[in-house]
Amino acid sequence: MVITSVLPPPSTDNNSALIAILGAGAIGQLMYHKLSLCTQATQANDVMFIGRDKQTRQQELSFIDHTHYNHHILATILGIEDDRLTQVELLLVCVKAYQVEQALLPLLARLAPHCHIVLLHNGLGPHLPVTAAIANHKNQGLTLGTTSQAALKQNDWQVQHSGLGVTQLGHFCGPLMSPTLKARLNYLHSDNQPLEWHQPVLPVLWQKLAINAVINPLSALNQCANGQLAATQYQTQITAIVDELVQVAKCDGISLDKTAVIARVYQVIDLTAANYSSMYQDVTHNRPTEISYINGYICQQAKVHQLNAPHNQSLLDKVLHLSKYE
Ligand code: PAF
Repeated sequence: MVITSVLPPPSTDNNSALIAILGAGAIGQLMYHKLSLCTQATQANDVMFIGRDKQTRQQELSFIDHTHYNHHILATILGIEDDRLTQVELLLVCVKAYQVEQALLPLLARLAPHCHIVLLHNGLGPHLPVTAAIANHKNQGLTLGTTSQAALKQNDWQVQHSGLGVTQLGHFCGPLMSPTLKARLNYLHSDNQPLEWHQPVLPVLWQKLAINAVINPLSALNQCANGQLAATQYQTQITAIVDELVQVAKCDGISLDKTAVIARVYQVIDLTAANYSSMYQDVTHNRPTEISYINGYICQQAKVHQLNAPHNQSLLDKVLHLSKYE
């Protein structure tokens, strides 16, 4: 079932809740901007980043929205010893897939049992250790999600909203997210981009995995913009990557329609034709990539089910070879 949010943004009065964002990268800053929209005018911002330092500090951010309007915002970066951590009601984890465990697990003991956690990253996999860890701690609710909104970091504290797209969320385990918090998340669609709630959530995450399993490594390895992957020379490879993914997903209990998944992959290639994928950018800037949580996750689950996934394995090996970090 898909529910697309059509509600207008809620008023500030009834929806105040301390929201923290872990990860101040391009997507973290984009989410910060959207979630704090309702409170910016009143100067009573209840959205904060969680930093790495002990002390809380203020930081000026510059956010260029999709209409090229530049917003200057003074953000609070909560120190890890700040008592307000225990009052956080919604924690949005926007770090890269390979950073989730290291960034989130040490914080769990400081979060209250009613704090709801949302993971928002490309790829799959971190939800497994996170689920085990929260079950051992305070059993907080966990929502998983993915976004096709795109943002580019121009420097540490300046981000440009570079692409519109859908954000898809769904409950995964533990207590459900409260209606108040769900209403706050409506702000994620402040630019009329859909915010969808899916139950169950894993099929949509596998579908997004297919998009990333095709576009990210192929654009990184061929050093091209997403749109170039529509060329016929990539067709056989794209079909093979999706074919393997659909078989692995099936053994994982997720039934996907291969034709529909391929059609969606080409639709995203078209919609983001001028963009350079996050993996292209990671490789270009010598940063670690999310390959182990994208094609790597498909290969890992293939092994669990004693399947072969040679096309995904080859992309995994080639990208790992390219990146000096992995
Ligand atoms: O990782 C990315 O770059 C994006 O998820 C996507 C959808 C592939 C567009 O570039």
